[in-house]
Amino acid sequence: MEIYTKLNHSIILPTSVFHDARFTRDVIVARYPDWMDVPHWVPLEGGEGLKSWAGVERIWAAMERAGIGRGQPVAAVGGGTVTDTLGFAASTWKRGVPVLFMPTTLVGMVDAAHGGKTALNFHGFKNILGTHHAPEAVIVVPEWLESLPEQELRSGWFEMVKHALISSPRAWDRVAAIRTPTLEAIAPLISESCAIKLDIVEQDPFEQGLRKVLNFGHTVGHALEAWSNAKGNPLPHGVCVGYGMVWALRWGSPAIADDIIPHFENWLNADFPRVPAAELWPWMVHDKKNSGREVREVVLDAVGAPRWDVPLKESEFVETWEHVLRA
Ligand SMILES: NC(=O)c1ccc[n+]([C@@H]2O[C@H](COP(=O)([O-])OP(=O)(O)OC[C@H]3O[C@@H](n4cnc5c(N)ncnc54)[C@H](O)[C@@H]3O)[C@@H](O)[C@H]2O)c1
Ligand SMILES: [Zn+2]
Repeated sequence: MEIYTKLNHSIILPTSVFHDARFTRDVIVARYPDWMDVPHWVPLEGGEGLKSWAGVERIWAAMERAGIGRGQPVAAVGGGTVTDTLGFAASTWKRGVPVLFMPTTLVGMVDAAHGGKTALNFHGFKNILGTHHAPEAVIVVPEWLESLPEQELRSGWFEMVKHALISSPRAWDRVAAIRTPTLEAIAPLISESCAIKLDIVEQDPFEQGLRKVLNFGHTVGHALEAWSNAKGNPLPHGVCVGYGMVWALRWGSPAIADDIIPHFENWLNADFPRVPAAELWPWMVHDKKNSGREVREVVLDAVGAPRWDVPLKESEFVETWEHVLRA
């Protein structure tokens, strides 16, 4: 189908039919046999570069050309960078028009498309600009992942691992049973992973407390991601979070780290990036979930028992970072 060749492009679809997240591909196609022919089709190059003021301007300009009025939904088909940016543009257009997401990456399907956080990067810092704007619907079609490069599949896999670890030993056991995260192996776990995120987001949509647990692994993960972008050799978001979770387990979960980390070593299938701790710490200090300049971290007291807002000192970070580099 056409749809496979135009992935990670955004479509602006002025219709108001989508109100229900329980769509399947057949249902969409049945409703929109010619949906690729809608007049307002806006190809966008995905990637972190889109999450910028220039990217938003391009989407606003397209919305203007399409004459998107108040209450008219816009839809995005693409990875997390596309849904983050279109979400931002839609949340500010005429003080907010509804959005519908059709994620095409695993990161998008289990994480970025859900929960209503929109985000842009600024001056090299990840997700510093953003709004809350929950989608009307998210349509998840796992078959769309068949074309996804292995590295990107692995990136989403680490968000699924994160959801399992913060949720319950049962969820973790299902994830830990997967030795090689192929699409075939992980597809049956996608809907549970979405459900874990949605459950947390529904309890705390504006991240007053509980929702912070979704940041597990992300303090170090975001720093590595920003560092790798700044070096011109970007590592995928989820892979950085994978390294970040190993660091966080080693730092905050001595009772379970030795049982869990070997699974990560197998999934990461690569050594830790040899970054001096002193080069990562400044990125961590700027992480937006900190309070002032104090770095706050999520730790797991046990599988399924995360604790948030745990202060982290530079000396502790450095010591554990050097430990994981040596391991
Ligand atoms: N808003 C949130 O709550 C939230 C949560 C997690 C991540 N994010 C953000 O999402 C972004 C990462 O998302 P991502 O990994 O989807 O990045 P992405 O959008 O850059 O997509 C990754 C790559 O996959 C390609 N691609 C997309 N779909 C494909 C398909 N089906 N087949 C083949 N290739 C395909 C893209 O062109 C791109 O090169 C980050 O910017 C992160 O900050 C946001
Ligand atoms: Zn993430």
